[in-house]
Amino acid sequence: EDEREAAIERIKKLLVEKDAVLVAHYYTDDDIQALAEATGGCVADSLEMARFGNQHPASTLLVAGVRFMGETAKILTPEKKVIMPTLEATCSLDLGCDAEEFSKFCDQHPDRTVVVYANTSAAVKARADWVVTSSIALDVVDHLDAEGEKILWAPDKHLGGYVAKQTGADMLLWQGACIVHDEFKSNALRQLKIEHPEAAILVHPESPESVVDMADAVGSTSQLIKASQELDNDTFIVATDRGIFYKMQQLSPEKNFIEAPTGGQGATCRSCAHCPWMAMNGLVAIEEALLDGTGREVFVDEDIRQKALVPLNRMLNFQV
Ligand code: 13P
Ligand code: SF4
Repeated sequence: EDEREAAIERIKKLLVEKDAVLVAHYYTDDDIQALAEATGGCVADSLEMARFGNQHPASTLLVAGVRFMGETAKILTPEKKVIMPTLEATCSLDLGCDAEEFSKFCDQHPDRTVVVYANTSAAVKARADWVVTSSIALDVVDHLDAEGEKILWAPDKHLGGYVAKQTGADMLLWQGACIVHDEFKSNALRQLKIEHPEAAILVHPESPESVVDMADAVGSTSQLIKASQELDNDTFIVATDRGIFYKMQQLSPEKNFIEAPTGGQGATCRSCAHCPWMAMNGLVAIEEALLDGTGREVFVDEDIRQKALVPLNRMLNFQV
């Protein structure tokens, strides 16, 4: 405990010395989220992380999250040094969407507007017309649909299916999934809801359709946090990474938050709903990244960066 406190103090000094700001995702450890809050950094969803890094004056961005978040920061602000606690922190959606295969898929459907989720490599973004996060996916697709565009969507099949259902847009889906959200089970959730009939169900749309169908609110991490504040319920069953409980509990200390089950019928798994790559972001790794960025600095090939910047800027400039 003393060592933890000491590490936090050392990191605070290092952030100032190195002119660095900590940009953290809601799924990172409580310690990291608290540190970002205490040092003028941000704790946010993936869209807000991109916006924050883009407008913050610090010369170094320390991105605590997964690889695509660091890459997005570098694409948007190449003049800044972008470091991460570890470059090994990937995402199953990114892993499941190889840039070459994806490019071939796009070539087979030249009539479709290519919309990719932010959870992809820079090379996949470079092949896209639009990048979206779950905060903005419905609005962007609605807009494209209204313009008569047919869409090729990648990589998350659940989010893509949800967006298609909500907007009625013609969407051809890449078949990727998030290993964390794909595990939420509707049968076990139904059982849990019987035990907590007063609870509202909050679901991230990377979850299977049968789970999304049971939700009182569906949305990105920031939208789910907002729903946890706005809905009157005292209890919430939450189908997303449990890192999000830090912020939900902080904003509503009197409310009760329960993890949605990831096991089979009736079973609950209390440790499954946590992204293994988000979990790689620890205080030790953060301190090491600040002390010596070697091997933890994010670089993006300049040609790819310029191509990926176009659809990313479309997202950032998109007004509903
Ligand atoms: P958000 O954009 O909702 O923060 O989601 C990012 C993510 O990785 C969800 O698994
Ligand atoms: Fe990727 Fe899923 Fe982890 Fe989010 S929770 S970073 S989508 S693997």
